[in-house]
Amino acid sequence: MHGRHLLAAALALVVAATPATAAHAATQPGFRPGAPGIGDPAYPLDGNGGYDVRHYDLDVRYQPATDELDGHATITATATQSLSRFDLDLTGLTVDALTVNGRPAVWTRDGDELVVTPARGLPAGLPFVVDVRYHGVPYTARIPEIPLESQFMHTDDGALVAGEPKAAASWFPVNDHPLDKATYSVRVTVPEGLGALSNGILLGSATNDGWTTFRWAATSPMASYLTTLAIGRWRIDQHQHRGRQTIIAVDASLPPTFADDSVGRTDEITDYLETLFGPYPFEANGAIVDKHDPLLFALETQTRPVYPASFLVDEPSRYQGNVVAHELAHQWFGDSVSVRYWRELWLNEGFAEYAAWLWNEHDRLTTVRELFNLFYNLPVDSGVWTPPAYGPPGADPFRFSVYSRGAMTLHALRMLVGDATFFRIMRTWATRYRYGNADTADFVALAERVSGRSLGAFFAAWLTGATKPPNPDPLPPGV
Ligand code: ARG
Ligand code: ZN
Repeated sequence: MHGRHLLAAALALVVAATPATAAHAATQPGFRPGAPGIGDPAYPLDGNGGYDVRHYDLDVRYQPATDELDGHATITATATQSLSRFDLDLTGLTVDALTVNGRPAVWTRDGDELVVTPARGLPAGLPFVVDVRYHGVPYTARIPEIPLESQFMHTDDGALVAGEPKAAASWFPVNDHPLDKATYSVRVTVPEGLGALSNGILLGSATNDGWTTFRWAATSPMASYLTTLAIGRWRIDQHQHRGRQTIIAVDASLPPTFADDSVGRTDEITDYLETLFGPYPFEANGAIVDKHDPLLFALETQTRPVYPASFLVDEPSRYQGNVVAHELAHQWFGDSVSVRYWRELWLNEGFAEYAAWLWNEHDRLTTVRELFNLFYNLPVDSGVWTPPAYGPPGADPFRFSVYSRGAMTLHALRMLVGDATFFRIMRTWATRYRYGNADTADFVALAERVSGRSLGAFFAAWLTGATKPPNPDPLPPGV
């Protein structure tokens, strides 16, 4: 590692000292640095300006004994302005070598920004390729008082990546914001005997000299926070379901039937959600269940949600929803149709939670009306209603109202426009913004168009109003 680092530093010096390269890009007329953030008011440095990534090709090797990762990222992007310089997001890790279009480039580190000055300016509209070699112990985000971990977690038998709004920059250089979706090829090499999962389709694996390499391909556009890496000992159920490769991986230290009633129902739940929302959007499906104790949330990592084992123990009662239905519904709402900015999160969580209510009714555990009333009847100053479902993420992006008041808003819409129109709105939303980004104004406009009603005041009352709107679906007296 050390030798490689010195070589990289020496290369960087040579390049910096050559006026015809770095100085050239900086002084070409019309070529300007890309912004250090993509423009999300809540997270000003997330993502970057001036380019759009099309594909990440990642080749990583992880040694659990030392927690060290060696990485090689090849990033294909298109300049959206003429760039003298651009940023990638990268948390920790040491960059050993970096080229742009095959030429050594100069880089500096500034917090979580990797600032790259290519030898030549990158003209607007043209593709370019960034090649980065790096290594180190990936960063784990921690909230010690909970104690919760996210991003790159070092587990007992391997590693697990999950985090929202971010996790990707802990293991590869990335334009880390949902506004820049891309496809991915991931090769992950681990000591022989361990398994390694990522998103999408497993193309194959091969073992050489005590290391096994797994090759994964995520062929639909994916937001960076939805990428995952799961290394460890797994019990794997791999099968085809409706033409989709489905891989359900359960931590091998858990009892054999542990997940049968939860992630074991992935196909059945997905089939049901298709009847509501239209075709499942992706090439693969599945689950990753890890027993890592500080993993205290599930995440809708694309095609392969991550679940903490602790969430599946008391299924399906957990937060009244059903966590598997919730994460699978996110494949439509959150993963395929993604937020433009993070203040729009109710479009993910309210939708996924309402889908989980619908599944619970379908599975005869309870009814949507009962769940709606359970939350509706809580005091307006409880976390279920305030702070409101729509608004800046603030200190707690995942505050309960984003889920509960978000789901109640959808139920109120359904009561107002009727079932046929409501589900037509949901399916149109999934189709119209498939693989893209959208915001609340887009949803209101689409609901107005499909229903033929004016809905601005309705959504304002349900999403942000200080008082409860009248109950559109009360329980019958005596219940
Ligand atoms: N989108 C996830 C879910 O609702 C929530 C992730 C929460 N993340 C966190 N670090 N608390 O399924
Ligand atoms: Zn969710």
